[in-house]
Amino acid sequence: MDINALVAAELQRLEESQTFKYETALQSAQGGVVKVKGRDVVMLASNNYLGMSNHPVVKKAALEGLRKYGYGLASVRFLTGTQTIHLELEKKISRFLKTQDTILFSSSFAANVAFFSALTNEKLGYEQYTDVIYSDRLNHASIIDGQRLCKPETTERKIYNHCDAADLERQLEADKDNNYRIRMIATDGVFSMEGDLAPLPRLGQLAKRYGALLFVDDAHGIGVCGATGRGTAEQLGTLGQVDVYAGTLGKAIGGAAGGFLSGSKEMIAYMRQKARPYIFSNSLPPSIVCASMAAFDLLQKDRSIVRRLHENTAYFRKEIAGLGFRIIDGTHPIVPVMLGEAAVAQEMSARLLKAGVYIKGLWFPVVPKGEARLRAQISAALTRKDLDRALSAFQKVGTSMGLI
Ligand SMILES: Cc1ncc(COP(=O)(O)O)c(C=O)c1O
Repeated sequence: MDINALVAAELQRLEESQTFKYETALQSAQGGVVKVKGRDVVMLASNNYLGMSNHPVVKKAALEGLRKYGYGLASVRFLTGTQTIHLELEKKISRFLKTQDTILFSSSFAANVAFFSALTNEKLGYEQYTDVIYSDRLNHASIIDGQRLCKPETTERKIYNHCDAADLERQLEADKDNNYRIRMIATDGVFSMEGDLAPLPRLGQLAKRYGALLFVDDAHGIGVCGATGRGTAEQLGTLGQVDVYAGTLGKAIGGAAGGFLSGSKEMIAYMRQKARPYIFSNSLPPSIVCASMAAFDLLQKDRSIVRRLHENTAYFRKEIAGLGFRIIDGTHPIVPVMLGEAAVAQEMSARLLKAGVYIKGLWFPVVPKGEARLRAQISAALTRKDLDRALSAFQKVGTSMGLI
């Protein structure tokens, strides 16, 4: 069988709506306004929540990192891939999240893939054991893939309904007499399709009551949620109750690449010995390490950045709902504008681009059938003028399509 013919046939079977296209590649840096097909359009589709992707302070730090520490390290961390700056960034993240220690990865995807199997596939002094992981139904693909690497002989994987602490509690209660070695609750802090937050206070209580470890992937929370950007736990008043965080340096914090796990000193020290994507994959490049440190410093020094993100979000949420669009209520800069059918979301996204707004749609199979939407993502990089320009385009296109 010709493998290329096989995959080409599969591509043909995929519906037009399900294939990724790159006709709208950016011709500029990321920002509140970007250049696409030669035109300046308002960007409402990036994870550049704090506007740091092209921030002069962050870029300067990246250049200084490049000059002083070189382009790359040509090594994994435990050989010659650790510079003092890697250790400094790890300390900075721990101080920021109020954890004991942090370990860097090439991405948050890698961090999630590393975490679960590093714990569950090792005997840790046991000859016979079973571990259990309770995972939110809508957790990110990297959490799911991470759990797929856990050996099924020793790991039970259970799903609880999305953000449903009562369902989780029922399962924990039903399992309470099982002789599990490790119990884990795994959740995204913020769910990227809906912009909703995990019920961390309830999850924290359940974790404590049932002796479970609480793992929170706060990729869309850190730098975004809470008055000082410390994430979902800060916003919900549960800082200090998360056992292990996964986080990314590829969204609010600079937006280039890199991820981390952060938690107790024992857990992180263990991960340095057992996390395979850390041990067997290259170290983060110095420019990214230095820029990430500058991004954390900037976030802490200039409180107006996160404040502006929150103000922009509140403004956009109020105004878009005021125009008559149905959005999923909440506080997060991810604002899903619900449209129903995939064809409507596709047409609206294309028309908005013509009207000067870059926004992406989500439809089946990414979200359930009939729940197609445009996902707006608000940024501190957007000025009030940019937001108003986007809102007036929404009004114009929404009216012409008979949606509002
Ligand atoms: C919840 C969540 N976790 C992890 C990731 C992966 O992050 P990274 O790009 O750092 O691999 C993403 C990115 O889409 C995400 O949304």
